[in-house]
Amino acid sequence: MTIVTTRSASGTLHGFTASSFASLSLDPPLVLVCLDRGADCSPVFMAAERFIVNIVTPAHAELAIKFATKGENKFAYGAFAFDESGHPLLPDVAAVIHCELEHVVPGGDHVILIGRVHDARTGSGKPVTWYRGDFLHLGESAA
Ligand SMILES: Cc1cc2nc3c(=O)[nH]c(=O)nc-3n(C[C@H](O)[C@H](O)[C@H](O)COP(=O)(O)O)c2cc1C
Repeated sequence: MTIVTTRSASGTLHGFTASSFASLSLDPPLVLVCLDRGADCSPVFMAAERFIVNIVTPAHAELAIKFATKGENKFAYGAFAFDESGHPLLPDVAAVIHCELEHVVPGGDHVILIGRVHDARTGSGKPVTWYRGDFLHLGESAA
């Protein structure tokens, strides 16, 4: 599970919860995330220079729900830090991946945001995933 964040040209912060994150290429280092064209944040992400993929842990479950809720003042929750260009990131996650937006590829009612990784840091927490409508902590057996 990820929370994907960016900052618009005018400085507003945007983000959404995404389970559609995947690695794409090693050389060059590329990752992808699929974004619903109907998301309020989609115009900002499609025009972004950079975005950040925060791979979240079980401790971020509540925050991930906030970031999946339209109309929420999402950045009022969670202890965000900022990179050198003012993009919001979560310091205590399983991994933080800093991307430059390389391509926006159509994919039905979604677009595929392809990012070139220019920095990646891992943390101590384990990632969490989504299974049958709930968070599944990795290492637990799925019923
Ligand atoms: C577990 C989970 C996974 C999600 N994965 C995605 C995803 O991969 N792509 C996407 O566009 N929306 C995904 N969503 C929905 C968005 O997080 C949600 O619609 C978000 O509020 C959209 O941003 P907006 O508030 O700017 O409209 C997911 C929601 C949940 C609960």
